[in-house]
This record gives sequence, structure tokens and C-alpha cells, in this order.
Amino acid sequence: MRAIPKGLSSHLAPLNLPAWQYYPEVTSTNDLALAWARNGAEDGSLVLADTQTSGRGRDGRRWVTVPGTALALSLILQPTPDEMPLLPRFTALPALALISALEGLGVPAQIKWPNDVLVQGRKIAGVLVEAEWQQDQISVLVVGLGVNVNNGAIPPASKLRFPATAVETEWGQKVDRWDLLATILHGIQHYRAYLPSESFLMAWNKHLAFKGQEILFRLPTGKVITATIQSVCTDGRLNLMTEKGKSMMVTAGEIEMIHPQGLD
Ligand code: BTN
Repeated sequence: MRAIPKGLSSHLAPLNLPAWQYYPEVTSTNDLALAWARNGAEDGSLVLADTQTSGRGRDGRRWVTVPGTALALSLILQPTPDEMPLLPRFTALPALALISALEGLGVPAQIKWPNDVLVQGRKIAGVLVEAEWQQDQISVLVVGLGVNVNNGAIPPASKLRFPATAVETEWGQKVDRWDLLATILHGIQHYRAYLPSESFLMAWNKHLAFKGQEILFRLPTGKVITATIQSVCTDGRLNLMTEKGKSMMVTAGEIEMIHPQGLD
């Protein structure tokens, strides 16, 4: 029998999740959620862990979850027919929920397209969405979210590709992890109701980091271009303006760093 941390059950009860599992240590909450999804987990089921031995991020990168300091969670979500054409929005879903929780603490945050949450240009959280397929169709999504909650969650600078921060650093107070978790999950339930609507896209664009700024963008080919971020489109693609003034829609790639001129 696994010991459930004090306060976790009482924070999760009002959310009426169909089911949830807590582990002191897992390889990756996404691994367990994918396995559970294959075994018939219901929409909205949650996997939560105190630490991960093989936490992963986008492009096979490592995600560090320091015990007792962070949130590492994966939600199993079965897209409805309305949501199916808009799957990239599931990456923005937990990001917007976290941003709304942070705003409730007076901490403004933004989405670095496609999957990072930033506060003052530093990464506070990352999202990794993975899928289960049936024949050639996605049947279930696993929406993974890792949040640096208290200061100990921030990995050493030598392990970082991008500057990092934690909720405690930005808020200036220790944070109750289960309180924050419940607020985020509530936000996910709230934003999911709007996922197919224009207002979801508006919320995403409102919180888009580096909008109107010149940045360096690494294309999936590896080529790095200078471009200005315009907006996120209905289908989740990022609209960039190239140096030559041409509009360019990208489905993948990475904002590498702020172009020095963009810092003015
Ligand atoms: C990224 O920054 O590229 C995404 C990081 C996503 C980390 C979360 S932690 C919970 C879930 N389990 C994982 O192994 N990854 C995600």
C-alpha cells in the first residue's frame, strides 16, 4: 500500500476526478498514464508522482523532478469529436491553467510556444503531450505537466538549456503543492470546456511570450532563422514574420533565445 501524502486526498476530492494514482517515485508519470490509458482509464484520470527517475521533456530531453519540491502529473484525456481537430490546444490547456493559478498569486506568466510556461523570461513549467493510437487515429492523450514549485525544484544551472525559476521564487513564499495542484486541475477543467472555442485561442494569444518581438527560431531542419512572433493560429501553428517580411506558419521548432535587438 502506497502512503498518500497528507492533504492530497482532501485537495483532490472536490474535483471529482474519475480516478487518480499517487506514487512516491516513477520512471515518468507519462509512462504510467499511457499504460493506464491502454488499460481503459477514464477521461480525466490523473497520475501524480513525487519524483521521476526518467522524467522527459520535448525532443527526448530530460526533465528533473526533485522530490518534495515540484509537481509532476499526467492527465489522461480522451478528445471529444469537437476537440479532435484541435489537438495542439491540449498543450496550451495545462499551461493556461497554471498561468491562471499564478495570476491568482499576482505572478504574471506567459507561454513560450509551444510548451513552456515562463515567468519574467524564466521557465517555471513544461508540458509534454503524448498519444495512444488505435489504427491510424489518436484515441487518448496523456497531458504531462511538470512545475517547479518550491526553490529546491530548480535544477543546477549546468543542467539547464534555458534559465529556470520556481513558484516560490516568484511569489516570495513557500507554496503548498497540493493547493497549487488543485487550482491547476480546476483550471484545466475550466479551460477544457472552452477548448474548441475562439475564447481559448484568444487566451493562448494573450499569454504568448515574445509576441511582436524579434527572436531566433530553430526550424525542425536545424536551421535557425531570425523572425518576429505574430500569433498562434486556430490549429496551434505559430505565425512568424521572417526578416524579409514574409509570413511563415510553423508546426514544430523552438524559440532559441531572444534576439538581442528584441531586448530593447
Ligand atoms: C518540456 O519542458 O519539454 C516538457 C516537460 C514535461 C515534464 C512533465 S513532468 C510530468 C510528465 N512526465 C514526464 O516524464 N514529463 C512530463
